[in-house]
Amino acid sequence: MRRSLALSSRWTAILVVISALCCLFSPAISVKHENFKTCDQSGFCKRNRAYADTAAGTNNWEAPYRIAPESLSWKNGQLQGSILKTVNANGETVRLPITISFLESGSARVVIDEEKRQKGEIELRHDSKIRKERYNEAESWAIVGGLDLSKTATEDRGSAKSHVKYGPDGKFEAVITYAPFGIDFKRDDATQVRFNDRGLLNLEHWRQKIDKPAPETKEGEEPSPTPEVPAGEDESTWWDETFGGNTDSKPRGPESVGLDITFPGYEYVFGIPEHAGSLSLKATRGGDGNHNDPYRLYNADVFEYIMDSSMTLYGSIPFMQAHKKDSTVGVFWLNAAETWIDVIKEKEAHNPLSLGIGSKFETKTHWFSESGLIDVFVFLGPTAKDITKVYGELTGYTALPQEFAIAYHQCRWNYNSDEDVKDVDRKMSKHNIPYDVIWLDIEYTDDKQYFTWDPLSFTNPTGMLEQLDQSERKLVAIIDPHIKNKDGYHVVEELKKKDLAVHDKGGGIYEGWCWPGSSHWVDCFNPAAIKWWIGLFKYDYFKGSAPNLFIWNDMNEPSVFNGPETTMPKDNIHHGGWEHRDVHNINGMTFHNATYQALLERRKGEIRRPFVLTRSFYSGSQRLGAMWTGDNQASWEHLAAGFPMILNNGIAGFPFAGADVGGFFGNPEKDLLTRWYQAGAFYPFFRGHAHIDTRRREPYLAGEPYTGIITQALRLRYSLLPAWYTAFHEASVDGTPIIRPHYFQYPSDEAGFAIDDQFFVGGTGLLAKPVVTEKAESVDIYLPDDEQYYDYFTFEKYSGRGKHNIVAPLEKIPLLMQGGHIIPRKDRPRRSSGLMKWDPHTLVLVLGKSGQAKGELYFDDGETFDYQQGAYVHREFEFRDGVLVSSDIGVNGKLTEKFLRCVKSVGVEKILIVGAPKSWEGKSSVKIGGGEAGLEFHPEEGNKAAWAVVRAPKVAIGEDWKIEF
Ligand code: NOJ
Repeated sequence: MRRSLALSSRWTAILVVISALCCLFSPAISVKHENFKTCDQSGFCKRNRAYADTAAGTNNWEAPYRIAPESLSWKNGQLQGSILKTVNANGETVRLPITISFLESGSARVVIDEEKRQKGEIELRHDSKIRKERYNEAESWAIVGGLDLSKTATEDRGSAKSHVKYGPDGKFEAVITYAPFGIDFKRDDATQVRFNDRGLLNLEHWRQKIDKPAPETKEGEEPSPTPEVPAGEDESTWWDETFGGNTDSKPRGPESVGLDITFPGYEYVFGIPEHAGSLSLKATRGGDGNHNDPYRLYNADVFEYIMDSSMTLYGSIPFMQAHKKDSTVGVFWLNAAETWIDVIKEKEAHNPLSLGIGSKFETKTHWFSESGLIDVFVFLGPTAKDITKVYGELTGYTALPQEFAIAYHQCRWNYNSDEDVKDVDRKMSKHNIPYDVIWLDIEYTDDKQYFTWDPLSFTNPTGMLEQLDQSERKLVAIIDPHIKNKDGYHVVEELKKKDLAVHDKGGGIYEGWCWPGSSHWVDCFNPAAIKWWIGLFKYDYFKGSAPNLFIWNDMNEPSVFNGPETTMPKDNIHHGGWEHRDVHNINGMTFHNATYQALLERRKGEIRRPFVLTRSFYSGSQRLGAMWTGDNQASWEHLAAGFPMILNNGIAGFPFAGADVGGFFGNPEKDLLTRWYQAGAFYPFFRGHAHIDTRRREPYLAGEPYTGIITQALRLRYSLLPAWYTAFHEASVDGTPIIRPHYFQYPSDEAGFAIDDQFFVGGTGLLAKPVVTEKAESVDIYLPDDEQYYDYFTFEKYSGRGKHNIVAPLEKIPLLMQGGHIIPRKDRPRRSSGLMKWDPHTLVLVLGKSGQAKGELYFDDGETFDYQQGAYVHREFEFRDGVLVSSDIGVNGKLTEKFLRCVKSVGVEKILIVGAPKSWEGKSSVKIGGGEAGLEFHPEEGNKAAWAVVRAPKVAIGEDWKIEF
């Protein structure tokens, strides 16, 4: 069992034996629920839910928060003032500064703080030395741009409300009501997003703990009952909280923040990864098929996670989109503390004001975080694409990866030696199975000391890396944030000497348990720690590393085996005096960031795009690399769960995502493994991985027909790499997801809104529905429009909105091409993507009903940052009226000419036309400039479309040309 490797106490050993015995009798594995809090076990979650219940159960509930109108001032697109919170029956108030910013991008931002804490006028308990302010640095980690204030927004202040017009063409409006405080965000005069509609705004202001004297009891007498706690206020978790034997000391007492956000007229909400469940979020207040607990965001190492659950997982992106016919809006809750989100979906009929908006439903959400600010961005769309674009302006777009990173990765825990790695590498080549990267898990190290190699099994890492390099292949090695606490280990000694680790509540170096046993955690909130970390990756420090070695950051939630909920105590202290409570969900991203920075330039002048995989993430992690969905299981259920999770990550701005192919725990049956490779070929991040206790499962071991079918799936991925890379480029410039759900592509088609088991690949018109159920021989694929679709492999035709059955025996991936697109490919089979670099392209013209087609291709050197200076090719291909035209849609830069010269000889070797017009029958050539090339026409056969092929048209992929058919 996984944990048994690291824990050594006697009790743990006994428990491990018991659980191992249990496993013998019950093979099903499932999350240890008792390790993680339910809402009821989380003080602030329970309090905020109780507050919501009190509000709902009180006639004419009036929220105790109002804007002091005299405090308001407007300047440069920003409204500032104070909210007064009435805190007792005497009408005493506390002052909460509020800033509402209207941004040039069209989004609005609302920040609510607490004056007393800003001024440091509070007392900390237990002589704590932590910061007194509410955590206000989430922005410095998550936000990279897009904060320019609107120059055109205007405010019109009245005695009860203030109206602000903003956004593109002044089409957006915020109506701020003073008492009780609330904001309606409108587009085209209709309310789209409503703050504090239900009066659940809650900011637990700082208060002094009043220790009640213990009631006096005489000997022999019953103790008198403790005085009653004021109605609605459950003090029991204000001052400390114990869970699983760990007590959180809470030096600032209760400090949660909460707000209800209603989407009138919207039935669907998506986003807030990471959860194992459907793309369309479910209601969370119980009832048939609903969740009972809110969606939780508290990055954690959730061992053996379960399906269809609102439980937290390894990463958090507090960004949600609400969708209805032809309209998408969104909110981003910028808070790094533990957060829960309740979702209620209601029929709207009872609300006469919002009738006529176009839907009978509304979705009411309730967000609450344990500490920090209320800091919410509102996006009014109207399309999902608009929203992911603006969200990306704020948090950054997907970093354009090196090309190898979007090819296939072969991983397992563990490859046992450098010889083992070389052997797998040779066997993959021998079996003609393409792969780009082989991975090393924790066992490659000397005694779990990162930046070292096991002296017995990895005696020649350089030789191993050299062999890989011969096929342009790479190695990824794992480096985790826990640093083994062992005398003589140079890394831990430096960490301690320089005082760069996370501290415990008393200010000492924090010590906990992870893979290496006793460990310390590098504190990547500290700029000095980042600087030090960067140094550790220099080739002369990390001996045996080389330019084709990249990094995997695991366990960065952080996972602490003996910590509360398998993570760090919330009262631990980070750089700057912030409590771990305040920054927990960002922690993983700071470590990922440090590693990213380290890989940028490991040797002076050798600047390459880093590749770093992370398990834990937050808004902004997309700038740093890829993520995967953690420890899944070799089951059909987990195979099916992957796509909704990856789609959800994609629409939440982090599309470079994948799941462990084959399933991490357990041994997949061969058909499951095969289907998983077929699915994985459509994960933006495509990696096979397996637990240390599983049987070896490199594709060549599966035997026929499985090995052959898996190889076909891998080849499909490799031949479509130009299309995938183009989709990554698009994500990197405007945040459009790489695999795209129906609602994103067809915002008017209500029947498609909840679909999450099929998707489009980039802008290619490829519509995939990999088989994810056992023994399935066919799938029903849903077509959202009346366009002509063709089977990718057979050119069989499908058309008509609605469901179509596609026969899909084991060797077949249900994959359609939507008419109207041009798909770029590279069809020459090779061992790795690096070896395909200068291969000629194939263009697949998929003719739509109109007989036309259009597509794009982007490529660059696939490894450096030269593309930022124009060293790339970006073409548009358009086929209309019998003419195919290639034109440049890139922007010239300093390095454009040089790059174009370099790719001059990269040609187009084939043009395939699917759905070729009947009139081409008998045609044998096409005109290209002054010359011509042969055309081969294949007439329609039964339901299979006619197709044609032009071979060797002798045109360069990077140049303007025209082919007349
Ligand atoms: C947990 C990760 O989720 C898994 O992928 C990895 O193999 C193990 N840690 C060991 O490093």
